[in-house]
Amino acid sequence: MQLRLTTKFTLVTSAVLISAMLLFAYFSIRSLEETSIAEAVKDIDNLSETILRTTFHQMLEDDRARVYQTIAEVGFQRGVRHIRLINKDGLISFSTRPEEVGLQVDKGEPSCNMCHGPVAVEPLLAASSMSRSRRFVDEQGETVMGMARAIYNQPSCSTAACHEHPAGDQLLGVLDITVSLAEMTASTAGFRERMILATLGLLFTLGASLAVVIRRFIHRPVRDLLAHTRRLAQGDLEGRIERLAKDELGELEEAFNEMTGNLRRVQGELRELAASLESKVEERTRQVQDIQKRLVRSEKLASLGELVAGIAHEINNPLTGIMVFSSLTLENHSLPQALRDDLSVIYRETQRCSGIVRRLLEFSREAPPDKTTASINHLLDHTLRLLENQATFQNICITRNYTALLPQLHVDANQISQVFMNILLNAAQAMPDGGTLMLETVLAGTGGEVLVRVRDSGCGIAEQDLKRIFDPFFTTKKESGTGLGLSVSYGIVENHGGTIDVESSLGAGTTFTITLPVDAPEAVFRARADTPGVMALPESRGPLPA
Ligand SMILES: Nc1ncnc2c1ncn2[C@@H]1O[C@H](COP(=O)(O)OP(=O)(O)O)[C@@H](O)[C@H]1O
Ligand SMILES: [Mg+2]
Repeated sequence: MQLRLTTKFTLVTSAVLISAMLLFAYFSIRSLEETSIAEAVKDIDNLSETILRTTFHQMLEDDRARVYQTIAEVGFQRGVRHIRLINKDGLISFSTRPEEVGLQVDKGEPSCNMCHGPVAVEPLLAASSMSRSRRFVDEQGETVMGMARAIYNQPSCSTAACHEHPAGDQLLGVLDITVSLAEMTASTAGFRERMILATLGLLFTLGASLAVVIRRFIHRPVRDLLAHTRRLAQGDLEGRIERLAKDELGELEEAFNEMTGNLRRVQGELRELAASLESKVEERTRQVQDIQKRLVRSEKLASLGELVAGIAHEINNPLTGIMVFSSLTLENHSLPQALRDDLSVIYRETQRCSGIVRRLLEFSREAPPDKTTASINHLLDHTLRLLENQATFQNICITRNYTALLPQLHVDANQISQVFMNILLNAAQAMPDGGTLMLETVLAGTGGEVLVRVRDSGCGIAEQDLKRIFDPFFTTKKESGTGLGLSVSYGIVENHGGTIDVESSLGAGTTFTITLPVDAPEAVFRARADTPGVMALPESRGPLPA
């Protein structure tokens, strides 16, 4: 059985209190009884002393009638039950009960026992008043006290005229008095009753106040603490203990409130941490995916570059032969005109083929950048000036939003200009009916990189095409496109330690963002041994040098 703390406390405290009060009551009553008996013994001793003193002279004069008269008068006193005089031979010489006068007293009876004792050989001559007294219930059923007092022989007795007692006698007789203890018994019983009642009353009052005090100062705070702890265990960190006690339990409650507050704060911090961790993980995942995409693209470009370089190289020689021989044959004016016309077509088409092969070789060669210090704003303007007058740019409204005082970049101006040209041309071609072209340069990455944004309001790029536009030969322009502009640009920017990103929505326009580092690391190139002049893309990109 599980008892509540307050019940246990009340039970233990009550048990201790009850025991203490009962012991107190018991010893108080006993002490009163002992005091009352001692008083009674003293009273009866005084009475016997008074009788002996009062009758002393009468005894000296051997005036027995007056002695007996005096004793009989004392015997009428309230509470005195019985007085008798016993001579040294045990004969009752006087008694307030006349019927026993002249009778022999048995030394074994209780009144004689005290001095003669059941085992004593010689009687005690000077027993204490307490040992001479005895309590017993008389024939009327009343508690009484008896006391025997020895009457000793004195010089005045043995020299008295009556010559009754020779000087050799020590003891002349015994005065035996019996008094009623009814009054004393009644007052002791009254005291006992009052004591028991007071003890019970006190116990009840103490118990009740104890219960109230325990309930108010222990039960309630402990109950509040328990409820609060249960709420905590269920994860509710919002609660507080409102009614604080003004003692150690109150301090404990305050400490609990403080602890709950701390837990709440830590939980909040943990939540924030988890949220920020989540967003950081998302961000990193995005970056990793991005890098992965670039890597795939780089590898694709590298292998395609090798393939294209090989093919272009092989085709270039026969093409040169066709061109040389067709041009030589064309110089022969003796040939019929129709044949010469056909030869011109062969020469033109071969030239076109040669142009394609040259561009292919350009794409695959990816010469290492020849870097000089250049201003990106100037480079962009310079490229734009070259294109502006072309027919495709006629209906396009160009706005520039350059950040002044951009740091000078260490770049291959020709290559970067080629990148701008490819992107600007693409933008113009995406707006055949005119539109707006917005050019923007921004210092970003806390000054570590320059962004060049080219935004057009053209046709946009379809979702499925977006991931392919940097692939070599991917074009949506049928005959007029080679699909090499963006892949070449991608390679150039990458060689400069930068990136190209694109955002587009079909029908709304496209934004290309070229990011170039302010202090670009020198790209590492690995020259291909079998195809001189054809450079592979960087194998890996290490951290930026300090
Ligand atoms: N600004 C642009 N707006 C719409 N489409 C674009 C844009 N830039 C590039 N593209 C798409 O990317 C393809 C590849 O471009 P590119 O590599 O320059 O090759 P080409 O211009 O010869 O087609 C284009 O054919 C076109 O579909
Ligand atoms: Mg193009």
